[in-house]
Amino acid sequence: MLMRKSVEQVQRESETSTLKRTLGRWNLVFLGVGCIIGAGIFVRTGNAAALHAGPAVLLSFLVAGVVCALAGLCYAELSSTLPVSGSAYTYSYTTVGEFAAWIMGGLLLLEYGLAASVVAVGWSGYVVSLLGDYGLVIPPELTGPFGHALMRDGAAVIGPDGNAVTTLFNLPAFLICLALAGLLIIGVSESAKVNNVIVAIKASVIIAFIIIVGWFVIQHFDTLKANWDPFIPEATGKDGEFGWGGIFRAASIVFFAYIGFEAVSTAGQEAKDPKRDMPFGIIGSLLICTVLYILVAIVMTLMVNYKMLNVPDPVAVAVDAMGPAWGWFAKTIKIGAIIGLTSVILVLMYGQTRIFYTMARDGLLPKVFSRVHSKFKTPWINTILVGFLTASSAAFFDINTLGDMTSVGTLAAFGIVCLSVIWLRTTHPEIPRGFKVPLYPVLPAFGIVACFALIFTVETRVLVFFGWYLLAAIILYFVYGMRNSQLQKGLQQHD
Ligand code: ALA
Repeated sequence: MLMRKSVEQVQRESETSTLKRTLGRWNLVFLGVGCIIGAGIFVRTGNAAALHAGPAVLLSFLVAGVVCALAGLCYAELSSTLPVSGSAYTYSYTTVGEFAAWIMGGLLLLEYGLAASVVAVGWSGYVVSLLGDYGLVIPPELTGPFGHALMRDGAAVIGPDGNAVTTLFNLPAFLICLALAGLLIIGVSESAKVNNVIVAIKASVIIAFIIIVGWFVIQHFDTLKANWDPFIPEATGKDGEFGWGGIFRAASIVFFAYIGFEAVSTAGQEAKDPKRDMPFGIIGSLLICTVLYILVAIVMTLMVNYKMLNVPDPVAVAVDAMGPAWGWFAKTIKIGAIIGLTSVILVLMYGQTRIFYTMARDGLLPKVFSRVHSKFKTPWINTILVGFLTASSAAFFDINTLGDMTSVGTLAAFGIVCLSVIWLRTTHPEIPRGFKVPLYPVLPAFGIVACFALIFTVETRVLVFFGWYLLAAIILYFVYGMRNSQLQKGLQQHD
């Protein structure tokens, strides 16, 4: 269980890598921002404000941002020490050992695979809303998870028979996952140029929102300031509903909005100067997004009352509140959001297929996951499976359950990354590190505590589900992973 890939081997793999080193420090920042901005800010902020924190959701962004910064510093140290592709899974394999790597694989399935489903549901919300603006109505039953009463603006949607509509299946979310899996199979994935264009679109939409709606808020501040009264709505007495408890619950929700900064660490072999530039890329993208998110949260909660924000497209709802003259801007925001969300789903699914691929090459998953298509040179069976997994969970589950599961899994993964830093410093103090976490060991230790503290703010039912998931992963390790591991069979070098 504690067998490890050797640090020297991983560093050698990196030195002999045939990938071209083309990414400069700002490319890395853009790569990070490209993965970070998505359904978190475009969708989940609304839910977090409406049901848990009210206008104080901006404090939740601060809390989540600090937790991510701690994990980000640890990622920066590991990526400057072990500049390999494969990120957290490889870090765990090299430091704590195989069992931790296996668990990390399970957590990354939540962080990437399930997160892709969350973003697909967010994508669906904006698509349905945009089509509605043009009079194209998808039957409401086909736009939400199984068995939920469909809500719009806080009220149930009433069908022709006078009853509230109960949704069956989220068709748009299902289709986008399959379509993107198709693109991944034929080899469309990350290209730095395309990524930069999409990041520019997403960032422009967010900045335009902050400037235009922010300007409107300033003009009408005397009336709109009532939306911040109270800034921290009184706790209802139910767990995580407003008050300080609500702020922390909302922090675990908006934490989702930050997921993705660690994607920078997967580009270790393509960075021009990984030791110097990886920390810059990780911390830089995190910082930019934190500032943007807090500004969006301020503007959004001043523009409309937080109670109105539990909708699939809260950013557009805030623009709509400026009046019909701004309809064009609401549509532009929706189009920008749809383009931005599409790229996030693609990147997350890509990441998931590559994690499965690496695990299969290590023998921890069946070989079929690493089988490469003869013409397209992509892991196609693996990609089909990831496509169906993400499509099905996006189709049948609601965004809040999916999002909370993703947050919990990712927080646990970040906790292990912080632990890996301490582990590596203790066992390999001698290896050169391009970047070192300041105030060691206080910050990584605080990172571990903060990640686990935030995990326990989510709903009990999600925690129970997560517990079962982990138990299943542990059993699978003993039944499959341990018996098939290449490392166990002595086919790879190890410490
Ligand atoms: N942070 C990414 C998003 O919000 C995953 O969509």
